[in-house]
Amino acid sequence: MTEAHCSRTRRRLLLGGAVAAGAWAIAPRGALIGLARAQTREHRLIAQPGEAPLLGPSGPKVPIWGYNGRVPGPELRVRQGERLRVTVENRLNEETTVHWHGVRVPNAMDGVPHLTQKPIAPGERFTYEFEAPDAGTYWYHPHQRSYEQVDRGLYGALIVEEPAPIRVDRDVTWILDDWRLTREGRVSETFGNMRDVAHNGRIGNTITINGVFFDEFALHGGERIRLRLINAANARIFGLEFADHQPIIIALDGQPVTPHAPPNGRVVLGPAMRCDLILDAVGRPGHRYVVRDMFYKTMAYELLSFTYSNKPLRAKPPESPIELPRNRLREPDVARAQTHRIHFQGGMIGDLTGATLNGRPLDMRQMMQSGKAWAVNGVVASGHTPEPMLTLTRDRSYVLALHNDTAWHHPMHLHGHSFRVIRRNGRPTPYREWQDTVLLSPDENVEVAFVADNPGDWMFHCHILEHQEGGMMNVIRVT
Ligand code: C2O
Ligand code: CU
Repeated sequence: MTEAHCSRTRRRLLLGGAVAAGAWAIAPRGALIGLARAQTREHRLIAQPGEAPLLGPSGPKVPIWGYNGRVPGPELRVRQGERLRVTVENRLNEETTVHWHGVRVPNAMDGVPHLTQKPIAPGERFTYEFEAPDAGTYWYHPHQRSYEQVDRGLYGALIVEEPAPIRVDRDVTWILDDWRLTREGRVSETFGNMRDVAHNGRIGNTITINGVFFDEFALHGGERIRLRLINAANARIFGLEFADHQPIIIALDGQPVTPHAPPNGRVVLGPAMRCDLILDAVGRPGHRYVVRDMFYKTMAYELLSFTYSNKPLRAKPPESPIELPRNRLREPDVARAQTHRIHFQGGMIGDLTGATLNGRPLDMRQMMQSGKAWAVNGVVASGHTPEPMLTLTRDRSYVLALHNDTAWHHPMHLHGHSFRVIRRNGRPTPYREWQDTVLLSPDENVEVAFVADNPGDWMFHCHILEHQEGGMMNVIRVT
């Protein structure tokens, strides 16, 4: 039976019911379809030790922590509007939680220890259940001691599919990660050391894609790929250049954006950020093209090569539309929005002299002795339950004017919302992109705008996980 026929039949049935009941309104066709799709997808994730071929399929296995013992954990896929029910079992020797990064979940499902839930104790379970309101590329990871738990491999992709996806030959997810391995091939135990905390975080020495090291990715001439990039590294920022290919950015942090070429031909992705690309295989048969990460000038390296067989799939890539349908996000009224200034200070080479920790003024030396190096509006966070830095009124528009008064980059992440990035250093951004994590360069001023439409206490923190641990975190309350 064709779909049109099927829905006509259903409509006829519904009409029959209405006639029988006398006065019922007839549901519009959209509602009928919505009803038919309101499904719940169930999954189980077990946080547990395991091992992974980080050094390549033939290399020695490296002990990791992973969901279901693997890194990355399973790729969870749901249709937009479907419910997800995930039971998480903790088989680690310490407490954990799961945070659904970028998904606009109800506060109680946000996975922040002590703030939104009691952490899951070893041997215990917790069931998360929520609807996936926005299509796009998301990911999940613990929020408990994340600078160690995420680093050891606890993360996975969460893909929310559009009701009518754009047409591509392959839909590919690459979760990028950066590991600090010892010479013996084990994860270095130098978690949260002060050097990493006060500089650019835990930069590693081994890059994996989907938990393995690979140096070739086969493309078929003329094919079109939707490449979903997720940066799961604690600290490394990627700046990818795709040789003679011209990828087009179609979504950032899950949210569709006007399709555009990456500025200066480089896709920049801070920790926790995502980017969906349309990658057309325009290379020549039998050739190889080196993809490079050029972000840190002194640490550029070859990520992998695209290789082409001698047999193309077709003469040239298709020309079908690549613009994604927008998600239903509330448009902030920027002209009438209230503005709050947020000042980030600290780290090495900065001029922070002191800040308040647990209500006590400390100088920089005392801060460092407590393992802290960063302050947000003069306050150093310790734990996940500081007094909220801001209390916002539900359904009102706000602008956050972020000032990075440090010598370092910071990917700043707000839970429970997406915001529009509206200005950088006073200049309007060309695409007013929706993001949940915005990368600030040293000394940069960035303004973001959003409607505070999700009630609860939400973390606002740097996603360089060593910076977060070092105090670069706070809470924004929406009531
Ligand atoms: Cu991806 Cu607060 O986290
Ligand atoms: Cu930071």
